[in-house]
Amino acid sequence: MFANPLSPSWLVPPIDADALPAHVWPSSAMRTESGAVAIGGVPLPQLAAQFGTPLYVIDEQDARSRAARTRAAFSAAAAAHGTTASAYYAGKAFLCTEAVRWMVAEGLNIDVSSGGELAVALAAGVEPARLGLHGNNKSLAEIDRAVGVGIGAIVIDSLVEIDRVSAAADRHGRVQPVRLRINSGVHAHTHEYLATAREDQKFGIPLAEAAAAVATIRSHARLRFLGLHSHIGSQIFAIDGFLEAARRLLALHAQLLAHGPVPELNLGGGFGIAYVHSDEAPPIEHVAEALLTAVAAVCAELSIPMPHIAVEPGRVIIGPAGVTLYEVGTTKDVMVTLDDEVEGVAVRRYVSIDGGMSDNARPALYGADYSVALASRRSAVDPVLVRIAGKHCESGDIVVRDAYLPGDTAPGDLVAVPATGAYCFSLASNYNYLARPAVVAVTDGTARVIVRGETETDLLSRDACIDDAVTQAIPYQGDAL
Ligand SMILES: Cc1ncc(COP(=O)(O)O)c(C=O)c1O
Repeated sequence: MFANPLSPSWLVPPIDADALPAHVWPSSAMRTESGAVAIGGVPLPQLAAQFGTPLYVIDEQDARSRAARTRAAFSAAAAAHGTTASAYYAGKAFLCTEAVRWMVAEGLNIDVSSGGELAVALAAGVEPARLGLHGNNKSLAEIDRAVGVGIGAIVIDSLVEIDRVSAAADRHGRVQPVRLRINSGVHAHTHEYLATAREDQKFGIPLAEAAAAVATIRSHARLRFLGLHSHIGSQIFAIDGFLEAARRLLALHAQLLAHGPVPELNLGGGFGIAYVHSDEAPPIEHVAEALLTAVAAVCAELSIPMPHIAVEPGRVIIGPAGVTLYEVGTTKDVMVTLDDEVEGVAVRRYVSIDGGMSDNARPALYGADYSVALASRRSAVDPVLVRIAGKHCESGDIVVRDAYLPGDTAPGDLVAVPATGAYCFSLASNYNYLARPAVVAVTDGTARVIVRGETETDLLSRDACIDDAVTQAIPYQGDAL
């Protein structure tokens, strides 16, 4: 089969369009005898019939074992270098009370980045000491609540926050452990919108100002300094960026040790995952080993003791465990004029599904790539280049920019987009008043709703000017025929 000339160079036509590459799909993904994709032992057509589409599907066992594996990887690497490590699950990737319980049960702490995320973690019954709070502009109310409930750590992101956290600690009569977020200036290899440690950005304190900031923290009796924190960006495959950030932070860490204890070093999250077949993400064990080896080497060079290491990954834990299930509504072939060098025309098939940028904003926001598979059946028909488009009134409403699907994929078919467990549910919106989909956890052949889907009542519930007489007179029939 020849590649469509519109296809990007990294995308090759699959030999078997029905294949579910193991590095992109949840570990339990398979095709049943009938050819449908099943996750957690539950065929996706069954889920569509029971819960409707679009639908977020999370392989519970996969999410939990990735959490356990990540924690174990850092603990083992730390132990090999004579220290300990803890992993915080970055709740911003995907948060609901059940996910929090999974993570805590697998031995992880939870990192939250707003009062709302804190409320979810507390509603899950997590001991506040196992939580950390981030954010470049935490409100006074968020700080007060976090300190009041006894949160394990607050990551201070700007100088003004030192006084704010200290005042809250005074009010609550507590000593609040804090970390200081550093902008290390490291440029990680990632999309610009995902890079969070360049000099010219909103997060953290520049390295040059950090020693003075720590001295100020230490001057507050109600604050206990835990150590430095850095998060250099997200979806990073190249380990060098993490290593460089660790080296820069450790140089400062060593200086700080001269004036008081610095028990830990938090190296953030950002470890990349495979979204498409050609992505090669390093196994988390390699990342952990490389990071701890580098930290140990620098500590030896500087003659300082190994600190406790903390990390806060989100995507690498929950991303590959999720898929989004959609129904195809329309297909359309569009003739595209090729550029001058190639000349001629080629066909791009637009396959429109019943969701879009409201359930997966990442392609529109970051130019993120995804893959897709026909989920309701197998097909022996040759694959064609497709673009999976959403149903929003926005031409940038694309879920999968380039992928191959069997040429007979048609309205009524189900398609599934893998690796949507992270930053899809959490970035979802009600654009065009689409109801946000339910989240279903599947494992051992059973499915259960862990976040229910929105209804029309939810969509109207915040409108403060609804005339009940009018809404009752025109009952909405939903999408049912
Ligand atoms: C401070 C911080 N920690 C951790 C994370 C988690 O990153 P990831 O989900 O890529 O591991 C983020 C993501 O933006 C972050 O900003």
